[in-house]
Amino acid sequence: MSNRMWGGRFGASPDDIMEEINASIGFDQRLFAQDIRGSRAHCDMLAAQGIISGEDAASIDAGLAQIEAEIEAGAFSFSRALEDIHLNIEARLTDIIGPAAGRLHTARSRNDQVATDFRLFLRDSLEHLGAQTTALMRVLAEHAETHAALIMPGFTHLQPAQPVTYGHHLLAYVEMLSRDRSRFADARARLNQCPLGAAALAGTPFPIDRHATADALGFDAPTANSIDSVSARDFALEALSAMAICATHLSRLAEEIVIFASPDFGFLELPDAFSTGSSIMPQKRNPDAAELVRAKSGRIIGALTGLFVVMKGLPLAYSKDMQEDKEGVFNALDSVSLCLAAMTGMMEKLTPVPERMRAAAGKGFSTATDLADWLVRKADVPFRDAHHITGALVALAEQQACDLADLDLDTMQNVDARITDDVYSVLSVENSVASRTSFGGTAPDNVRAAAQSWCAALADDKS
Ligand code: ARG
Repeated sequence: MSNRMWGGRFGASPDDIMEEINASIGFDQRLFAQDIRGSRAHCDMLAAQGIISGEDAASIDAGLAQIEAEIEAGAFSFSRALEDIHLNIEARLTDIIGPAAGRLHTARSRNDQVATDFRLFLRDSLEHLGAQTTALMRVLAEHAETHAALIMPGFTHLQPAQPVTYGHHLLAYVEMLSRDRSRFADARARLNQCPLGAAALAGTPFPIDRHATADALGFDAPTANSIDSVSARDFALEALSAMAICATHLSRLAEEIVIFASPDFGFLELPDAFSTGSSIMPQKRNPDAAELVRAKSGRIIGALTGLFVVMKGLPLAYSKDMQEDKEGVFNALDSVSLCLAAMTGMMEKLTPVPERMRAAAGKGFSTATDLADWLVRKADVPFRDAHHITGALVALAEQQACDLADLDLDTMQNVDARITDDVYSVLSVENSVASRTSFGGTAPDNVRAAAQSWCAALADDKS
């Protein structure tokens, strides 16, 4: 039998392999609620415009409500022969209400229908990701306030650079995540236009009211150009790109957890609930959750790359290639959502080990910049010369296998006579962090204030 929805001009049914490659019902059934919502809005509009009768509209509406309940109850049998969610629902509607079902597809096409469903789905999903991001930010900001003065090494090139505080380090991620959250919101705002009624690509001769359907579905407006309406997938690319950036941030945090929880660093203690043991080495505690968050960024970035490749060569308007947009987006959404949840759980229970952090912060001549800055401020030495003098002192300390603060004043003055006893006041890691009071700097007072203001802002945030 040829396809009962579009097979009028076909004499034979599709080859089994054709059916397999053509079908999207395996994954687009996830759009069922959006599809039904869109159809009900379309049906109401058709009736209001006098395009279908009130009686037909009422039975279509009731039939769609029944189908939604059937799908929710797991009592709907999806058919691969019916290709996709749109045709599965329409065929079932025909079973339930008879020929009136055939009137629902007046003045629309699956091309505008799928674009509408997908936008509706992404809209809700982006809101959900935004709320999850807020939850993670909250945990990080609370820990940052608690640990505003906890000193740890700051790194560049993963070499000890200058001491910072753990709170400051955590707030760096809060800043990144706040931008992720606003990218999710931006993507949501930009996609919130309704393609429904663009029909196949050219619009329709029926006197439809696209503003009414856009309104009923909570869109800001109908999309303005019917060709663009069915061709555009930049809304999905934009959402994926926001997800890929967020996943990259989560991956960097995960990588730091892996490094900092390793015994050689020992800065962090992994919570039991988010680590695993080894089946052969009883002493092991492995950061599997962090590793998987790090790894899952791969599939999210992959979904973005995949959709770019699908889209980049497509002529306007709709091509079936675009059916390949959904699996990557669904997978990326699920993965980012899982990573945000795992990271939130992990961060809630992750405990710093202050002695290890403090001890490591003093290593590697991490206050050398403070010494150079002292020469500039107290002895009026130009910074480049101060850098050079400090380098010589670091070399001496290295030779003597001691810290900068352990060099005696004579030794220092032999290198530069302008150095006085006062220099020792800047060589401690406590002094180093406390002195960095510039806006956005790591001084504990700054960090405490920044953490408190984040906590207050996030407590008010109901998203
Ligand atoms: N299943 C299709 C998709 O996901 C729906 C649109 C099909 N349109 C068409 N003219 N075949 O893109």
